[in-house]
Amino acid sequence: MLELAKLSVRFGGLSALDDVSLSVGTQEVVGLVGPNGAGKTTLFNAISGLVQPSAGQIRFDGQRVGAMAMHRRARIGIGRTFQIPQPMHELSVRENLIVAQRFGTGKVDMARIDAILEFTSLANKAGRDAATELALTELKALEVAKALATAPKLLLLDEVLAGLETTGKRRFMGMLRELHAAFGVGILIIEHDIETISSLCPRVAVLNFGRLIADGTPDQVFRDPAVIESYTGAPHA
Ligand SMILES: Nc1ncnc2c1ncn2[C@@H]1O[C@H](COP(=O)(O)OP(=O)(O)OP(=O)(O)O)[C@@H](O)[C@H]1O
Ligand SMILES: [Mg+2]
Repeated sequence: MLELAKLSVRFGGLSALDDVSLSVGTQEVVGLVGPNGAGKTTLFNAISGLVQPSAGQIRFDGQRVGAMAMHRRARIGIGRTFQIPQPMHELSVRENLIVAQRFGTGKVDMARIDAILEFTSLANKAGRDAATELALTELKALEVAKALATAPKLLLLDEVLAGLETTGKRRFMGMLRELHAAFGVGILIIEHDIETISSLCPRVAVLNFGRLIADGTPDQVFRDPAVIESYTGAPHA
């Protein structure tokens, strides 16, 4: 269970996250939405240790993670992808997974890597140079594969579907639907498309200007006037 309590992140005078309290179980699939600049990626960065909160607490399975280095957070089960794919240069797809697995678990388990390559449809691309020889869908799949290689209990997915064309997106959605059951991970996924989020996530949390403004089923959340206003910039009629 991930528990954020009154979490705030400031960048100089900008309040990127403001007093956010949110819990996500490792059995859940939860969507995180909100307009550009709402603080979604900053939330992931605070959880994974890339940015330091200015106030509040982060706990994972009861442990305080605030003072932990990034790799320790990975070792207790927090996995993530990056909004902009970050393949490791001059390494093959398989080597990328090996490095990620060492980072997240401290060891290498080739059988698990093979299973992940298979699951993410990258098995026949395993020998390719990750930074130069992959199409966008494959790069996005590699982001998910690397995160899975760290053996997470909770996976933070940052816009892994963004920019994909219809066919690629449909295939990717199928993979995401199976991810939770196949690897026994909880998922917190950032995604702009409301239809996509509604079809993947029984629960959705909404950020706007760094504040959590809604948390509920897709039906509840996307009918909430405050949410509609945050998206359209106009009060709900
Ligand atoms: N390292 C940083 N230094 C300064 N400001 C930052 C930094 N990272 C993010 N911000 C600012 O914090 C706010 C939240 O940014 P964030 O990237 O978390 O938004 P987001 O919800 O992920 O948006 P998007 O949907 O565009 O990805 C923005 O105003 C952004 O410019
Ligand atoms: Mg973002």
